[in-house]
Amino acid sequence: MGKNKKLNKPKLHNRMKGVVLAGGLGTRLRPLTLITNKHLLPVYNKPMILYPLETLKRSGITDIMVVTGREHAGHFMNFLGSGKEYGVKISYALQDTNNGGIADALRYAEDFSDNGPIAVILGDNIFEQNFRRDVASFKHGAKVFFKEMKDPTRFGVPVFDTSRKKIVTIEEKPKQPKSKFAQTGFYMYDQNVFSFIKTLAPSARGELEITDVNNIYLKKKKLSYGIIKGLWSDAGTFESLHTVSNEIAKRV
Ligand code: DAU
Repeated sequence: MGKNKKLNKPKLHNRMKGVVLAGGLGTRLRPLTLITNKHLLPVYNKPMILYPLETLKRSGITDIMVVTGREHAGHFMNFLGSGKEYGVKISYALQDTNNGGIADALRYAEDFSDNGPIAVILGDNIFEQNFRRDVASFKHGAKVFFKEMKDPTRFGVPVFDTSRKKIVTIEEKPKQPKSKFAQTGFYMYDQNVFSFIKTLAPSARGELEITDVNNIYLKKKKLSYGIIKGLWSDAGTFESLHTVSNEIAKRV
C-alpha cells in the first residue's frame, strides 16, 4: 500500500434499520392464505406488504429485513426482489416455527440489527401517518404507539394509572379492556430487545408475545408511547381487510 493511502474509516451506522414481520399462518384468512401468504393479498390496489414497507420508507428507513414463514416464502422474493424498485434494500429471514409469535419472529433479526436500534412493523398493519420524527429522535428503551378504538378487545390494550397518562401494564386481548386504546403494530427498540425475548415463555395461545416484551421495558421504566393520527388498521381478518381496502379506495 502506498505511503499516502489511508484505509477508509468504517462508517458509523446511525441510521435505524427496519423489520417487517410477515410470518404466521394467516388462519383467519383461509382459504385465501392457502394460495399465498396473507401479506401478499390485495389491500385495495396493491399487495398488503407494500403498506408497511412504504411506512418504513416514509419514516426514513430503507435498510429492511422481511421475516416470513416457510410456506410461500418464494412468493415474497419474486415480488419484492432486492427492493430496488421500491427504493429500499431488502434482506430476508425465515421463521422456522411459522406461528411462534411476533416476538419469536423478531428474534431472526438479531444479527441484521447489528447492535443498533430497530423499528418493527407488523406486515398486516396499515398506517396513514409516518414515524419520521419518532425514528429521528429515538435513543434507547422502547416506544409503542396506541390508537383510540371503540372496541380494542382484539388488540394489546394499555392500562393507565389514575393520572390517565402513565401506563401500568399492557394486556393482550383483554375480555374487558381497561382503556379504549389499542396497541398498534409499530414498535421501536434498542438492542436489549433480543436478550429480553430470550427470557420469554409462550403465552396461553402458545406464542412469544410482543406485549410481554413491551411489559419488560415498562417494568424497567424504559417504555414510552405515542398516539397514532389518521387511519390505522390491521388487515388480518376478512372484516378488517374489507374495511381498510374501502378506506384506502377513498383516499387514492
Ligand atoms: O395489529 C396490532 C396487534 O397485533 C396488537 O394490538 C397485538 O398486541 C399484537 O399481539 C398483534 O395481535 P394479532 O393477534 O392481531 O397478531 P397476529 O397473530 O395477527 O400477527 C400480526 C402480524 O405479525 C402478522 O401479520 C405477521 C406477524 N407474525 C405473527 C405471528 C403469530 C409473524 O411474523 N410471526 C408469527 O408467528
